[in-house]
Amino acid sequence: MLKEITTERAVFATKIGAVATTVGSAVGLGNIWRFPYEAGVHGGGAFMICYLSFVFILGVPLLIAEFVMGRGTRANVFGAYRKLRPASHWNLFGILGIIASLLIISFYAVVAGWTAEFCLASLSGQLEFASEEARHEGFMTFTSGSNSVVWTLIFLAFNFMILIGGVTKGIERASNILMPIFFLLLLAFCINSFFMPGFGEGMKYLFYPDFSKISPSVILGALGQAFFSLSLGLGCMMTYASYFSDKNRLGKTAVTTAFLDTLVAILAGIIIFPAVFSFNLSPEAGPTLVFEVLPHIFYQLPGGMIWSTLFFLLLFLASLTSTVSMSEISISYFSEEKGMSRSRATALSAFISLVGALLCAFSFGFLSEVTFFGKNFFNLFDYLSSNIALPLGGMGCSIFVGWFVKRKFIKDQLTDFGTFKFRLLNILIFFLRWFCPAAIFLIFLNSLGIL
Ligand code: PFF
Repeated sequence: MLKEITTERAVFATKIGAVATTVGSAVGLGNIWRFPYEAGVHGGGAFMICYLSFVFILGVPLLIAEFVMGRGTRANVFGAYRKLRPASHWNLFGILGIIASLLIISFYAVVAGWTAEFCLASLSGQLEFASEEARHEGFMTFTSGSNSVVWTLIFLAFNFMILIGGVTKGIERASNILMPIFFLLLLAFCINSFFMPGFGEGMKYLFYPDFSKISPSVILGALGQAFFSLSLGLGCMMTYASYFSDKNRLGKTAVTTAFLDTLVAILAGIIIFPAVFSFNLSPEAGPTLVFEVLPHIFYQLPGGMIWSTLFFLLLFLASLTSTVSMSEISISYFSEEKGMSRSRATALSAFISLVGALLCAFSFGFLSEVTFFGKNFFNLFDYLSSNIALPLGGMGCSIFVGWFVKRKFIKDQLTDFGTFKFRLLNILIFFLRWFCPAAIFLIFLNSLGIL
């Protein structure tokens, strides 16, 4: 799908391909694994209402801002700031994004490794025949043992091969077919949820906003989840937009991405929470929640093994399309700003991710006692990137585009140089100048206990 138009930079060949790849970056473990676990630990409906508000009032304008910067400059995240404002320090936001992307790949690869293990355990029948306790025990032993490390490495190897082998075309084509199948599978499980005894309770937990539960940590958690799920605030969308053709409608692409991404997260919630209450599990289980709940759902259905294998396989592939996009942030930086060949840049990015991923994988084993502010490496990397770096990066991008990028530049990008209309320009600029930065700033103050 990436077609060379100059000797230096590639462009997505089709508009639909660009949108599909952008959605492929956004949809991944963030929707299926992280959303239910964050919603679970933060009280369900209270979290949901904050999350949905943040996606649409902050996420969409910021997605557009990243798209404008990326496509307008056709550069990596650091280069985009540098080109628009040479000799300033704004490009530090680019560096922040690159660091955040490497932190995210580190823990993401571990969870993606779990999906691979589950896929294989389903296929071999191990998951099916295990009793509830045996499954729980098995999962705990697996995450703390060397198997989980091996799967993390295998996942990273896949990611590396895709990036280095130029088979991006292949995975994009495959994901264009597989992601709709994944979506249909999610729909089927949603329908199945409807018949579970805990459906009502699960729905109430997820959608009924108990406002008394809204606390600073719920608000910050929802903000972080909105950014994480939309791949926002670290320059991922900026980097992808630098490969968009001029014909891509940026506003429409932003709304489509936010809509589909949120829909998948909601479907995941509708699948998980009724099952949590039907099988008397705790919604507050944390990062292991989804892996504990899903087998219960699959194995009470006829052909459980097939459902389970297919689901984890597709989730593994959805994770790959997300890590490929994360890796692209640092690879494009190393190759365009540091003059490395693409293969060297890819190797360097892979090496850093590998070190980070080992730290995260061992956080469930012999490094579990190594904690900072009560968090092991896995939780620390997740917290620092999602709850701090991404909102901070989003705030920087918002202020930058709102105040320092010429209005004409923004307008040209949003209208394909006047080919079509973009009616909401004034509102967008108001949001980028005032609303988004102020909202994120207030949320930070609030979470520090100052507000
Ligand atoms: N949005 C992805 C998900 O929900 O799984 C995760 C992600 C991808 C975060 C790319 C950041 C990023 F740059």
